[in-house]
Amino acid sequence: MRINVISTGSHTTDDILTNEDLSKIVDTNDEWIVERTGIKKRHISKKMTTEELAYEACKKALNKIDIDKNDIGLIIFASVSSDTTVPSSSFTISGMLGIENAVCFDLNAACSGFIYSLSVARDVMTGMRKKYAIVIGAEKLTKHVDWEDRSTCVLFGDAAGCAILENTDEVNPITLPHKRLNIVDTLLGGKYDSKKYLSIKSNDSVTDDEPDYIKMNGRQIYKFATDIGVKIIDELLDKAKITKDEIELIVPHQANKRIIDTISNKSNIPIDKWFVNLHEYGNTSSASVPLALDEALEELEKKENVNDQDRYVLTFAFGGGLSYGGVLLKIVK
Ligand code: ACO
Repeated sequence: MRINVISTGSHTTDDILTNEDLSKIVDTNDEWIVERTGIKKRHISKKMTTEELAYEACKKALNKIDIDKNDIGLIIFASVSSDTTVPSSSFTISGMLGIENAVCFDLNAACSGFIYSLSVARDVMTGMRKKYAIVIGAEKLTKHVDWEDRSTCVLFGDAAGCAILENTDEVNPITLPHKRLNIVDTLLGGKYDSKKYLSIKSNDSVTDDEPDYIKMNGRQIYKFATDIGVKIIDELLDKAKITKDEIELIVPHQANKRIIDTISNKSNIPIDKWFVNLHEYGNTSSASVPLALDEALEELEKKENVNDQDRYVLTFAFGGGLSYGGVLLKIVK
């Protein structure tokens, strides 16, 4: 054992925007949105900032375990909708949580941000001998939504999620009230999006003609996502010499149910192994995977027949950049 996920947490607000609500703003309807995306509603953060959402998620994850906060030596904050440039949101979160002397930085890999951060956290924890780390994915994505563009405004929502990692080369594994997940391997990649299939302008470069809205060529992203999802799964399993039968759970980026169904079919992993909560939250970019992981692990805990020695969880994402990545985790006691 080296780097393990020992806790997760997530947070959203109670401000819900349903498909019905959206149909009063743009020319759309519940049937179209559900059929093309699977999304039924999304949570909008009207009052809380991205950092406040993240702070609540971190508090929930920390409350599940008993560790000394001063042993947390690394905080990575993945987002495309941070509140400030300097200090980075990771430092702000360290202050909010009362964590002193941690290495803190923000990471932007769009919807793959949390997966990138898990992989980077594993390497920094090993290289710099950090005992514990917090990896966060948080978004107030709706501030970049053009509410007049029906092709994008139906897709996105706000949320935060996080994972706490332990390094068992540096600390003895603590007793947990739930299972831990050992990081077996990670895969990261990217391909420059020269045709700008997915983009958001930064504050400094917005103009009246080009505001900081999410612009997306849905069909091209759909094609990229379905191809790359299959590749990530195959490569991670091949490298670890693990069969598809040994997979207990797949936690994919929650972008579109049709993308998930297609990857499930192409990769030949039955859909009942795939965790899906996008009907409730929409696509929350960097927050999508940790939010899904937090809810999926809660369900996993309830399963009685999980053979802890031979079962795996695979999580992956794809997004702007174009970025992609996956993490293979082994369920351990
Ligand atoms: N309601 C009703 N009709 C709509 C809507 C809507 N909300 N949006 C588009 N349409 C119409 C279009 O105008 C078009 O009409 P037309 O045929 O008369 O021209 C028709 O529906 C079909 O449009 P498409 O764009 O071809 O629809 P598609 O089936 O491709 O679905 C979607 C669009 C849902 C965006 C899909 O392409 C998709 O999910 N792509 C992937 C998006 C994604 O995963 N993004 C993740 C990355 S996000 C990030 O990294 C921040």
